[in-house]
Amino acid sequence: MSRGKKVAIIGAGNVGATVAYSLAMKGSCHEVVLRDRAPEIAKGKALDMSQAANAARTHTIVSVAEEASDLAGSDVVVITAGSPRKPGMSRDDLLMINADITIQVVADVKKYAPDAVIIMVSNPLDVMTYVALKESGFPRERVLGMAGILDSARMAHFIYEKIGYGAGQIRASVMGGHGDDMVPLPKFSTVAGVPLSDVLDEEQILDVIERTKHGGAEIVGYLKTGSAYYAPAKSTALMVEAILMDTKQIHPCAICFDGEYGYHDVVSGVPVVLGANGAEKIFEVTLSENQKERFAKSVGSVQSMIDVLRDKHYFD
Ligand code: NAI
Ligand code: 2OP
Repeated sequence: MSRGKKVAIIGAGNVGATVAYSLAMKGSCHEVVLRDRAPEIAKGKALDMSQAANAARTHTIVSVAEEASDLAGSDVVVITAGSPRKPGMSRDDLLMINADITIQVVADVKKYAPDAVIIMVSNPLDVMTYVALKESGFPRERVLGMAGILDSARMAHFIYEKIGYGAGQIRASVMGGHGDDMVPLPKFSTVAGVPLSDVLDEEQILDVIERTKHGGAEIVGYLKTGSAYYAPAKSTALMVEAILMDTKQIHPCAICFDGEYGYHDVVSGVPVVLGANGAEKIFEVTLSENQKERFAKSVGSVQSMIDVLRDKHYFD
């Protein structure tokens, strides 16, 4: 494991704290700092996790960033700060509230951790990644969104539930935005190299696709008062570790397009090589006409939310 690396997590709620815990349990970095608008709770969690790291015999120290200046020296900044949707609040209201939070916290990152890679987690994911990119002024390679690893992991699990074997050997592929129009790609999914179409029939594959698209809502349905956090946090931690350790692994991440797939200035999820500099290569996967159409719909949904913010002069 690498030493001397620092990760900041802004938003020490369910996802943020679980990312910190995952990193601390593996000793993936030297230092994790948690920043939250509720600093006392963050302090309690940080203390608890530093003690857990001692029990696990790892060297990671978790502490609280009481001042924005405590973000200084961070190699990676994970942003999970957000507000949940409350009764009576429209999607657009929530969009603007979370955009305001993102703008506020990214201003601190820009000032105190100008060389960091930002991993955005807050929803709506692709739009918040776009907001973070515009607010930070960082190169697009250093402003990435986490969703593709999570959505692919969900799809892999749903495939497992259908076949009942191959757990841990299923490689599922999901591209596009993190919303109802995400693009699960069964043709690019395998069980230990065996094509999905050899283990599931068409109807079963359609079930897997639908369940994947609504994978987040399924968990909200059980939890009632919050959304998923174990798989989201582990997926985020994988991105953090690939960057800290410069692994050059390929992961699906949200990134702003500059001509890829024929799109400009809009964020969506595609496979990238992750390394110390963030996204070091962006893959333009060859898609069928049907896959292109589904991808276009997904990009269009993200674009329409960006347009709502643009109409409200967010990017002037
Ligand atoms: P949570 O409500 O448990 O945590 C959010 C935290 O943000 C709270 O501790 C809150 O105090 C903090 N916060 C709010 N405004 C802040 C500010 N201005 N500065 C610092 N901290 C602030 O929510 P949870 O479950 O951790 O989810 C966080 C976000 O991640 C949500 O937007 C959620 O929808 C999103 N999410 C995205 C996923 C993805 O695949 N991209 C998966 C799961 C969650
Ligand atoms: C999820 O997919 C809420 O985006 C979150 O679980």
